[in-house]
Order: sequence, then C-alpha cells, then structure tokens
Amino acid sequence: MKYVAEPFRIKMVETIRMTTREEREQYIKDAHYNLFNLRGEDVYIDLLTDSGTNAMSQEQWAGILRGDEAYAGAKSYYKLLDTAHELFGYEYIQPVHQGRAAEKVVFPILVKKGNVCISNMFFDTTRAHVELAGGKAVDCVVAEAKDPAMKAKFKGNMDVEKLRRTIEELGVENVSLIVMTITNNSAGGQPVSMKNLKEVYALAQSYGLPVCIDAARFAENAYFIQRDEEGYAERSIEEIVKEEFSYGDVFTMSAKKDAIVNIGGLIGVRDEKKHAELVEKIKSNCINFEGFVTYGGLAGRDMEAMAIGLTEVVDRDYLAYRIGQLEYLGAKLEEAGIVIQSPVGGHGIFVDARSMFPHIPYYEFPGQVLAVELYKEAGIRTCDIGSYMMGNDPETGKQIQAEFDFTRLAVPRRVYTQAHFDVMAEALINIKNRAKDIKRGYKITWEPKILRHFQAHLEPIEE
Ligand code: F0G
Repeated sequence: MKYVAEPFRIKMVETIRMTTREEREQYIKDAHYNLFNLRGEDVYIDLLTDSGTNAMSQEQWAGILRGDEAYAGAKSYYKLLDTAHELFGYEYIQPVHQGRAAEKVVFPILVKKGNVCISNMFFDTTRAHVELAGGKAVDCVVAEAKDPAMKAKFKGNMDVEKLRRTIEELGVENVSLIVMTITNNSAGGQPVSMKNLKEVYALAQSYGLPVCIDAARFAENAYFIQRDEEGYAERSIEEIVKEEFSYGDVFTMSAKKDAIVNIGGLIGVRDEKKHAELVEKIKSNCINFEGFVTYGGLAGRDMEAMAIGLTEVVDRDYLAYRIGQLEYLGAKLEEAGIVIQSPVGGHGIFVDARSMFPHIPYYEFPGQVLAVELYKEAGIRTCDIGSYMMGNDPETGKQIQAEFDFTRLAVPRRVYTQAHFDVMAEALINIKNRAKDIKRGYKITWEPKILRHFQAHLEPIEE
C-alpha cells in the first residue's frame, strides 16, 4: 500500500528526545508500568491519544493572535458560530472547554433518573455522564464490530433491530435518549453509515425519543461515507457532514479531535424554537459550570482556532491523507500477520493483543503487555483498550473480561511522517516475532476505585 503524501509542508519543528532501551526500561519501571505516568519528554512517538495532540496550521496560529478576548460577545465567538451554523446546520451553538464538558452540561437535562440511554457504543466519558445523571448506558453496536479480523464496511453502526427490541422490552417511557457516536471510538474508530444514521433517527422519531450525536470525529466519518457508501461518491464532504447532522436533535462534540485544535468542545441544538427549554437550561448549566455563554470555558483565541480548524478538516485531500496514513500502517501489520480491528478505522490502529499473546489471560492484561513492550522497544506510547481499562465489576469487585483486549495506537493529526509510521510497524513486527518469549503479564499492586487505568500501579508477574 502506498503512503498518501502530506498535503502540507513543515514550517516549524519540535525536537523529540531519543532514548535508549535501557533508559526506557528504567522510566517505565519508575512509572509503575503505567504509561500515563511517563513524562512526555521520555516518549519518542506519542500515540496515547489523538485528542488535543494535533498540529495547528499557520492560519490557526495566526488566528491565535487575532483571538478577541472580550468576556461577552467576542468577535471570535461570532466567527465560531458562523462557521458551525454553516457546517452543521444547527441553530443553537454553545462552545465549551472540551467534550466531557458538553456532556456534563447536556446529559443531566436529557437523562431522566433511573432511565436507560442507548448508543451504538458509549465512549467512557459519555457513559460516565449518563451514569452521573442517574441513567444506565446500554450499547447496541452491530455484531461485526466484535470480530476484529472480519472485514466489513461501517462496523460502527447501531444494530437497529436490537435497538427496537431493547426499546420495546424496556418500555419507551424508561428510555431517555439515543446517542450515535461518529466515528465509533470504542469499536476501533469504525464509521457509521448514513443509512444507519437515517434509520436510527426515523426509529427514534417514531418513539418520540431525542437523538444526540457524539460528534468528535464527524469529518473522518464523512470521509468513509463518501468513499464507501453507495450514492455518496459525488457528494462533497460538506454536504455529507450536513446530512449526518440532520439525523440528530442535539450534538455534543470534543473539538480536540476533528477541529484540529488542542482544546475545545461544542454543543449544538438543531431546532432552537422546538427545544427552547433545552436551550435555556444549556445556557444556565454552561454559566454555572463552564463560563458565560459566549466563551464557555475557552479563551477567545481558542474559539478562533476552532473555527478555522473546522473549515480545514473538511478538505478532502487532508482526509484522504489522514485515513491513508492509517491504512498504510494497517496494511504493513496485516502483511506481517498481526491482527488488527479491520478494516482500519478513522483515528488509530487497534491491535488485537489477545491474538498476539494467546497464552496471556485477560486478567494479566495482554493489551497492557503490548503497550509496555512498544514503549520499551521503540519509545512508542499507546494504551490498553481492554480488560485493564475495564476494571472491576462494581458489585462483585471481580476483574471484568473485556469484549476485546486491544492496544490502541491513536494518531495525532498532521504530526507524524511516513518514517515514524515505519518505526511503528517495525516495532510491532519485532514484538510479534518474540511474542512467545513474553510468558506472563501484569498484576495490579495499587488501584483507585474508578477509572483505575489512568493511575494504577502494575508489576510484571515473574515466571
Ligand atoms: N466522545 C468521544 C467519542 C471521545 O472519543 C471523547 C474523547 C469524548 C467524547 C470526550 O471528549 O476528551 O474532549 O472530554 N476521547 C479521547 C480519546 C480522550 O483518547 O479517545 P474530551
């Protein structure tokens, strides 16, 4: 597979420190084998997340200088509103400081206590905010998503039949909200088809249920629709984005992904008149938690950069390069017999660590084993998306067996070059070749009660 050349050139560089294997072995030991505890400067290629780690363009940096820092009614706020109205077709737009802030503002308004919310798949923070609002989060993703080796289009889709059955079984009065996550991060950045968005919205309307789009990677999703869905090849990314958003009533967005910035988030309400009460409450929660409605926890300069990033991300050449970069790496890995969530999704490569270490059980965390090996091998920082991240059952205290044990290589936007991707492939292939010699995984020596993977201490289990 050919690497799609960058549709940009580099004008400013950031030096990264090279380390030796010996040094890295010490750093990761000192970090208690938890990659979140490493210092950024001890990492060569940082694939911990694609969130807020993007490289801004010269236009965005120029925008940073132009940012209007008026407390109320800043020029940068109106610039962001104009861009978002045009792009998404939503009447009410509310800036916030990041995705989970949008969830914190919106979900307590939409989620009734004791009710269920259903998604193709909830991301950790959306799940947490449903639960904090007193609801229960249920996933209804299509079965194909759960088979990493199975190549299928739109593996991020909602299982519409299962959604209908779930609503019927629960009784519609016990359901608050339907959430469509585009792309589907937890399933490996897998896209959702337009047909699926449309069907889910029609079903929700027939039950009178609102649909919230969790829109962090809306442009990457639009690219997949244009490339792979019948009838969309001739439609522009902008047209596809507008149609995606037409199948929702509300959206929450972490702008740290597809707005190609380092901080920011958005809330949108499509029909401001129909949902006047919702908008009222959003404004009031925003003032309480984030800041006045015309800045929502951001500096004016951040809104300026976000407005510009939102126009850059819908450029087809950029998206072809972005997804092409991941496909280049995915193809190299598959050629070497490494199982990944395939086809390759939008923002990262999810390596099936269980199939690389079939002899390491889920309770010794194969996803974490591979993440630590990648760091020791080449200074690459990734994370476990598996049993280590899932933690313990809150009722029994027992380790949960996750659906998958993935190691996620999440790729920052416009940051790494083809040579970096070759380093990633080589490191993974080297590890695969000696996977049999890595006999045991990790045990946890200390963990906090919730979201333990960020802070826990681990220790290798001696043979
Ligand atoms: N929704 C999705 C689908 C996400 O992927 C994220 C963040 C959020 C909401 C929350 O946004 O971080 O701005 O508060 N995902 C990051 C990741 C952290 O690494 O996948 P946030």
